[in-house]
Amino acid sequence: MTSTSLPPSLIPTLPGEYYTDPEVFALEQERIFEAMWFCVARASELARPGQFRTCQVGGESVLVARSRDGGVRAFLNICRHRGARLCTQESGEVRRAFQCPYHAWTYGLDGKLVAAPNLTSMPDVDRGEYGLVGVHVREWLGYVWVCLAEEAPSFEDEVMGAVVERLGDVESIERYGVGELRVGRRITYDVKANWKLIVENFMECYHCATIHPELTEVLPEFADGYAAQYYVGHGAQFGERVRGFTVDGSEGVDRIPGVAEEQDRRYYAITIRPQVFVNLVPDHVIFHRMYPMAADRTVVECDWLYLPHVVEGGTDVERSVELFHRVNQQDFEACERTQPAMSSRAYARGGVLVPSEHHIGAFHDWVGERLRRPAG
Ligand code: FES
Ligand SMILES: [Fe+2]
Repeated sequence: MTSTSLPPSLIPTLPGEYYTDPEVFALEQERIFEAMWFCVARASELARPGQFRTCQVGGESVLVARSRDGGVRAFLNICRHRGARLCTQESGEVRRAFQCPYHAWTYGLDGKLVAAPNLTSMPDVDRGEYGLVGVHVREWLGYVWVCLAEEAPSFEDEVMGAVVERLGDVESIERYGVGELRVGRRITYDVKANWKLIVENFMECYHCATIHPELTEVLPEFADGYAAQYYVGHGAQFGERVRGFTVDGSEGVDRIPGVAEEQDRRYYAITIRPQVFVNLVPDHVIFHRMYPMAADRTVVECDWLYLPHVVEGGTDVERSVELFHRVNQQDFEACERTQPAMSSRAYARGGVLVPSEHHIGAFHDWVGERLRRPAG
């Protein structure tokens, strides 16, 4: 069936191969994940100088570390000598330098080459020149974002712009003080599905009535299938008898003081392409980052963020965490159920989107447009 023969209610999805083909995935790594701003870590994981974290961004391993001057620096995690991976741990802390486990070239927290066996007998080797390869880095909402492109796109346009596009203005997220909140819980999900299935799932709520019984209890309008992301500035309203955004609708924790009256008792969802989802409710923020590992595998790290005194005072956040943890499990199960079908001949030309999902078509157009764009 071609798109021209579809009835007006339906528009086509991407063909199945977009979710399975390693060549498409390699192009996405180059033209999406390595070209755009990519969120890698919570800044509080790098609270002290020497604390570091490594993660995969596209096809590259990236090392982010807090330096002595208090700033965050990001580098390709590759030794400049003969290319060994410098840091093999996912996170940790060094005292003052990173030492390559192969021949012991040693780099300061600012990336400069500070020592190497026999380095003094090679006075012509410039220590800055042979330092680690730096990449662009920004901190926003208490997260560290990196960009591997030589010329980074505007952070304001691409990252903040995505929030403005959804909420109408940047103040609407700033009121939640996301940077000052603390991680009350982090859960990492290893999802056997293509990253785009996870994005598409997050963008629509046609599935909510079927797979999210707890969420639709709390947000009754989700039972109609229209996602919060369907309308600009719209936040889904809590049900009348719901007291908090918890698994059983019971009272939540202390409300974030800056949240405006019109934002109270509402849930807002934002997609920051390519790999971040932000969920705002009056007493916490749920922040997802996807790390696409292969065409059929995506690691999703999800943080539940609360006011500092809630986390430090040991308030019970269990029922609050449990709601979105269930939503995550329900969503990722659905994505995993869909992934094997992507290579079926039944899906060779893709599937269809119903009207409440038509905005996903714009995401598909965007992916196609990025993949056609020459690398640069
Ligand atoms: S490869 Fe790192 S010191 Fe040789
Ligand atoms: Fe869902």
